[in-house]
Amino acid sequence: MSFPKDFLWGAASAAYQIEGAVDEDGRGKTVWDVFSHTPGKTFEGHTGDIACDSYHRFEDDLAALLTLGVKHYRFGISWARIYPDGRTLNEHGFAYYDKVVDLLLQNGITPWVTLFHWDTPQALEETGGWQNRETATLLAQFAGVVAEHFRGRVSHYFTLNEPQCFIGLGYEAGWHAPGKALTGEPLLACWHNAMLAHGMMVQAVRKADPSAQIGLASCGLGCIPENENEADIEAARSAMFSFGMHPEFSLFSQNAFLDPALLGHYPEHPFFDSPIITAEDLALIHQPIDFIGLNFYNAYIVRAGESGPEHVSFHRGYPRTAIRWPITPAMMYYCTKFVYERYALPVYITENGLSCNDKRYLDGKVHDLDRIDFLQRYLREYRRAGESGVDIRGYFHWSLTDNFEWSNGYEERFGLFYVDYETLERHPKDSAFWYRSVVESNGENL
Ligand code: NOJ
Repeated sequence: MSFPKDFLWGAASAAYQIEGAVDEDGRGKTVWDVFSHTPGKTFEGHTGDIACDSYHRFEDDLAALLTLGVKHYRFGISWARIYPDGRTLNEHGFAYYDKVVDLLLQNGITPWVTLFHWDTPQALEETGGWQNRETATLLAQFAGVVAEHFRGRVSHYFTLNEPQCFIGLGYEAGWHAPGKALTGEPLLACWHNAMLAHGMMVQAVRKADPSAQIGLASCGLGCIPENENEADIEAARSAMFSFGMHPEFSLFSQNAFLDPALLGHYPEHPFFDSPIITAEDLALIHQPIDFIGLNFYNAYIVRAGESGPEHVSFHRGYPRTAIRWPITPAMMYYCTKFVYERYALPVYITENGLSCNDKRYLDGKVHDLDRIDFLQRYLREYRRAGESGVDIRGYFHWSLTDNFEWSNGYEERFGLFYVDYETLERHPKDSAFWYRSVVESNGENL
């Protein structure tokens, strides 16, 4: 029972969720600055203005990484620091990331850069945002400039983080920035432009740094079988790749992103029947990449019904995390396997974790047994995927520290380190020490 010998262990974060310093060194406003400052959009009006103040406290984040003993860190570079209005280059924007990358390298930690984690410059939102194809071109320009700047220091990139969220929640459900509620063709335009951005970013990064390793970070509700029999397993597989199977979140399917990016076509569904999708565009989106990143949190339970796959309700009292997401460890086996069988590329879990009602106990420590139990269950299933032949390469825990959980603000705590938002100090939770033992033993202790 073991993980592959050269398996990577890491932790993850994203620019807007941790950095703060929203007005420093020429940074432009992003859609999240505007959205979080709009009354009623985030929990108790929380914003990312200060967040974890990582912009001034990266050394503290580094200390946290060293405590974990991880050798890989996934973090974001903010587009609006480098291109404040999306179009005009701001060289000062690199200073912070130069420091981050150099300190990581000096400490033997490999940087994995996410090029887009939802923080579109507000100026571009004002010219149509993701409804405008130019946004894709400009994001690719940023990607190329970053890869050029860090050539020789950064060699792993993710293009988009979860278009399922920044389009699905941002432009369809309206829960995330910029808070729009589109349907039909306008929504499809957003989706298609995001897909084009992915393809163009791959091209731009490859051109700037031909030796870079490039992937993407996809999410979507996974599907696991109710029972481990062939019919239910097949039903889960087919539901997982059926666009529209999850009616309340139509864009939350893995293949809405992975099919065009890796197979060169959209899922078969009337939503995608549109003249705006051309063969040239599909070719542009379909660029060779090196790995798939999966952000895995929870899955639907599916069974083979009379007339095809059906969702099974979670039973009363089903275990859930603090944010009320169901705990479904089997997704780390089944969903990873389904993805690998369909797309045949190495897989990294680029996010996995949970929010807990963490607090510092009277002894000053954060006893988060729920997190340890959750991770142990999920990681065992991930290991099982590897043992069954899936090419699993690594695991990035979400998140290194507690941070700004988008519209949930600071109400949700996903970190291995507890952030005291009064003092901005980071305190290792019990899970941090536990994760260190997993990293040290390459999961032998699970
Ligand atoms: C997905 C996102 O990439 C990340 O930003 C978010 O905080 C986590 N999942 C938890 O919701």
